[in-house]
Amino acid sequence: MALNLIMLGPPGAGKGTQAEQFAASRGIPKISTGDMLRQAVHDGTSIGLRAKATIARGELVEDDVMIGIVRDRLAQADARAGFVLDGFPRTVAQAGALDEMMVLRDSLIIVEIVVEEAELVRRLSTRLVCDECGATAHGFGVGVERRTACRNCGGGLVQRSDDDDKVVRERLRIYQRQTKPLVEYYQGRPTFRSVDGLQAPDRVAADLAAAIASAGEGVAP
Ligand code: AP5
Ligand code: MG
Repeated sequence: MALNLIMLGPPGAGKGTQAEQFAASRGIPKISTGDMLRQAVHDGTSIGLRAKATIARGELVEDDVMIGIVRDRLAQADARAGFVLDGFPRTVAQAGALDEMMVLRDSLIIVEIVVEEAELVRRLSTRLVCDECGATAHGFGVGVERRTACRNCGGGLVQRSDDDDKVVRERLRIYQRQTKPLVEYYQGRPTFRSVDGLQAPDRVAADLAAAIASAGEGVAP
């Protein structure tokens, strides 16, 4: 059975961090719409050119564009055995479109990562990403050496353009208005779970794995 997973949560909750690790451990693709858009901006594609200013303002790119991107990606062969969606869906319209894409596929498992707002602001204001490949330079906790170069490609580390204080506030506002309603959209389903994202990353990963296993028991074969 395919493991079709959605990672839900506000900016800075750790969706990307957890999605990457979980997808790698299961050998399924991590599909991050934020990463795909940043790549498109970097490559100067037509979608990238149109999305650049929207992302910089912390607003959402149009639903039809995002739905098209995800529909194409989920149709690729490597997503047949499962996927981890990070950053999609983000509106009720996107969630409805995803449900339509899931007809004839295994049920979605939805995990919400819960983190309070003050901690989200703290994480985003200190996050560094690679200027070349976009990877996040993780460096939490006492005794962890602060990196100066990307561990994947050696590229320089910079602040993400939308991690500026004012834009972070706007992203959090937009999350409350447009994405938080998805919790209500999904929470009646037997495959919806919440995990406490305020713990150390490995504790979050353990809770996430347990939540996914228990949600999977509710999925008919
Ligand atoms: P996107 O890239 O999806 O950004 P986001 O949802 O705002 O989330 P982030 O990537 O900021 O946070 P995250 O939850 O992934 O946290 P991370 O693991 O990095 O979207 C960007 C933009 O693209 C949007 O604003 C929009 O314009 C557009 N867009 C994308 N998808 C769209 C869609 N579907 N529709 C419309 N527009 C769309 O962690 C954050 C930091 O915290 C890191 O430094 C990390 O190291 C650290 N951290 C992680 N876990 C922990 C922990 N447990 N303890 C301490 N620190 C931790
Ligand atoms: Mg992310």
